[in-house]
Amino acid sequence: MTATAIDSSMTFNYIKKTEDANQLATYKKMPLAVERGQGSWVWTSAGEKYLDLYGGHAVCGTGHSHPHVVKAIKEQAERVLFYSNLVYSDIRARAAAKLVSLAPDELTKAFFCSSGTEANENAMRMARMATGRQKIVSFSGGFHGRTADSISATFLGKYRKLGEPNVPHHFEAEFGSIESIRAVIDGDTAGVIVEPIQSMAGVREAPAGFFSELRSVCEQHGAVLIFDEVQTGVGRVGSWFFAGSEFAGGVVPDVVTLAKSLGSGVPVGACLVNDRVSSEIRENDLGTTFGGGMIAMAAVLATLEAIEADGMIENAANAEAYLRKALEEVKGVAAVHGKGCLVGIEFDGPCLPVYARLLEQKIITGTSSNPAVLRLLPPLCVTQEELATFVEAIG
Ligand SMILES: Cc1ncc(COP(=O)(O)O)c(C=O)c1O
Repeated sequence: MTATAIDSSMTFNYIKKTEDANQLATYKKMPLAVERGQGSWVWTSAGEKYLDLYGGHAVCGTGHSHPHVVKAIKEQAERVLFYSNLVYSDIRARAAAKLVSLAPDELTKAFFCSSGTEANENAMRMARMATGRQKIVSFSGGFHGRTADSISATFLGKYRKLGEPNVPHHFEAEFGSIESIRAVIDGDTAGVIVEPIQSMAGVREAPAGFFSELRSVCEQHGAVLIFDEVQTGVGRVGSWFFAGSEFAGGVVPDVVTLAKSLGSGVPVGACLVNDRVSSEIRENDLGTTFGGGMIAMAAVLATLEAIEADGMIENAANAEAYLRKALEEVKGVAAVHGKGCLVGIEFDGPCLPVYARLLEQKIITGTSSNPAVLRLLPPLCVTQEELATFVEAIG
């Protein structure tokens, strides 16, 4: 028996036709089939090379197919592909220890799952378990995923409606407004979930001081504070996590959720929790078959090691500084938002024509729910030369 071979004779039209005929049309796809990737670049079935400043949908933080991550996955696959949390595993032990060691000191335990929405579902469940309450407060503009509880916490455009009937006990506050959160939070509130930089909403940031005030309001009411760091975590903002960083005013929440770039492309999510929350979670309270599987754990460990060894966190911070400076003089750019390798470029008109022209020039970027904001989520190893190619194209 042979493994499914990549047939390089497959034309794009054949791939597109076959995929469109057999897969639900849920995404508006770019007119290209990715066959190979390396660093910030992908190659298509037609042999064309694209600069990927969308980082494989914010997933390939270490770049496409980072050699250290590929090697770790290959080696692990030859040892054992999978066993669940019903057994101990050396690779799980090492991945969990590494992740916890990089997290702010207060976050002492990891719970592994397989996606961002699953991490958020579990985080909200933990908040309910830790408090014995039901109410969850989240913010306008935040995106937390597409499963029942996460989509009910998502007050962004069409998304919440897609999840109807929504889970009860979800309430909305205005992002960045402490008065608004004060008006909604009360003694029945189990948790508050916040996307610290609202990526999908157009890379929206909260005013300085918001997180410290949010922390103290949550403490005052005994509510669990959750940072959804599915996008901002794992080095993307130029620090390992938004939690505990200078951007958060040093605030560390009770729970941080992660996914996207945590496994460099292998599906994995995680909740990092503090002692207050972990002390309320008992055997069989939470679970998932795939969470903590060996391949995912090999990918997590290697991802964290690669980010560290290659100095990618510093590189992400430098990328932001470079882009901000380089875009200052570019006509049509009204503002630059975000941190590190999570950048929103606001134009003084719609960004869609810019996105389309860049794609024609073989540069992949992303749009957002704000029609004026183009999103860049490049690999954390993106070089200034690669960014210069983008700046030149945009100019
Ligand atoms: C901030 C944030 N939270 C949660 C999710 C959901 O993650 P997933 O698609 O892995 O379920 C996303 C996905 O885009 C996200 O950006």
